[in-house]
Amino acid sequence: MVQGIVSAAYIGASALFIASLSGLSHPESARRGNLYGIVGMVLAVLATALAMNVGGWALLAPSLVIGGIVGALLAARVAMTSMPQLVAVLHSFVGAAASLVGIASFLGNEKHAAGAEAVLHSAELYVGVFVGAVTFAGSIVAWGKLEGKIRSKPLVLPARHGLNLALLLVVIGMGIAFAATVGAPTAGALPLGLLLAMTAIGCFLGWHLVMAIGGADMPVVVSMLNSYSGWAAAAAGFLLGNDLLIVTGALVGSSGAILSYIMCKAMNRSFVSVILGGFGADEGAAPARRPAADGGVEIEPLTILAADLAERLLSAKNIIVVPGYGMAVAQAQHPVKEMTALLRKRGATVRFAIHPVAGRLPGHMNVLLAEAAVPYDLVLEMDEINPDFCHTDVVLVIGANDIVNPGAIDDPSSPIHGMPVLPAWEAAEVIVFKRGKGAGYAGIENPLFVKPNTKMLYGDAKKSMDAILTKLRAPEA
Ligand code: TAP
Repeated sequence: MVQGIVSAAYIGASALFIASLSGLSHPESARRGNLYGIVGMVLAVLATALAMNVGGWALLAPSLVIGGIVGALLAARVAMTSMPQLVAVLHSFVGAAASLVGIASFLGNEKHAAGAEAVLHSAELYVGVFVGAVTFAGSIVAWGKLEGKIRSKPLVLPARHGLNLALLLVVIGMGIAFAATVGAPTAGALPLGLLLAMTAIGCFLGWHLVMAIGGADMPVVVSMLNSYSGWAAAAAGFLLGNDLLIVTGALVGSSGAILSYIMCKAMNRSFVSVILGGFGADEGAAPARRPAADGGVEIEPLTILAADLAERLLSAKNIIVVPGYGMAVAQAQHPVKEMTALLRKRGATVRFAIHPVAGRLPGHMNVLLAEAAVPYDLVLEMDEINPDFCHTDVVLVIGANDIVNPGAIDDPSSPIHGMPVLPAWEAAEVIVFKRGKGAGYAGIENPLFVKPNTKMLYGDAKKSMDAILTKLRAPEA
């Protein structure tokens, strides 16, 4: 009876997780998707508690309460721009849990059976512990790099690929020995020794793999670790005989892999080159300065004041806003929304152009604009809006840099050459909101800033926006 209820709840939770992923794929249905995920998780936890023997509740209940409180506090306090760090920490928990479940399952199963089934079970256990260890150590390093606790410059050891390959071969060799000795009466402590040694190597590999990756690729790495953590959870599900964990792990594993692929594509980076690392090794060096066309003095960008921009906006018919990481830092989305409403009321067309890797996490800009209640139909993806830049009066680039860098198209020597970008420079006029001469994430110069139709509005984007709003709200405007 109880088993029947638990199975039904697991099927319901799996369906809710799938509905959640589908809901999260569009801003309009994202809230509903989130709700499905919450209900699915509550159902899964309740069903798992029901499936336990009553003696286990004494351990489970405090863990749930403490874990729930810590999770709620962390989620409430985290700034949107620090979300990748939080996600990285959570992946490290999944990795650690998967490894511990594997080791506990080995220790708890004193009498290891022999035969084909035992070999299969050992392989499951071994792979689960290994993927968990790599995910755990890799996620800790990713967190450290994103949080600035570990230098983001890649650690490029000599012969590092050879070292990784050699260690992987050692892990495979030890795995064969592990499967062969588990259940053998004369094996003694050898299988446990092999398992623990492999866990240590897995941790080293996770550390080394992510240490070799530069800060610029870190969000892709977090997404890849997300995928690994899913597969590690699925392996733990096989060990525990828990169907829901298998389904959920597979969902996380495959969606993380798809997301990593999409991010790599949008940054024009190959999946393999990200994993092999080394990108951004020169980071920290001053970005190359662009000399004037005659090879003489550097061109200084033109500037504009907030009051003059407000005047200009009042006469513009067609406006595109390009939000970027700086808008998130400044939290300028609310005044941007108000400016949009005021200008639309006066008959202007105002739309938002979203680059797939604007900001620091997938959908970062969509989340900010949704939070400020910008209507969804004004928010367009890069492919939809790119042909319209050339028919636009004013483009407002708010805290964006790399995603509007023309060098990605016309400078083969640019590190981001080939990355698709938003062609802001095709508009009649471009205004760039930024605080100073800081480079974007890729750490490179942006020739857009010195184009004749570009003007810089220096200062914090929120303060600049507030100044523009003061002018737009004035009765004489
Ligand atoms: P960035 O290229 O990082 O540029 C952000 C700009 O915002 C900077 O030039 C900075 O200039 C300005 N800024 C910072 N704080 C500001 C503030 N308070 N007010 C006004 N301006 C401010 O951002 P982007 O154009 O959004 O591009 C995203 C980058 O991240 C890309 O290189 C992308 O490949 C990378 N990336 C993104 C993702 C995802 S999934 N989104 C994943 C991996 C990598 P100042 O310092 O001069 O103000």
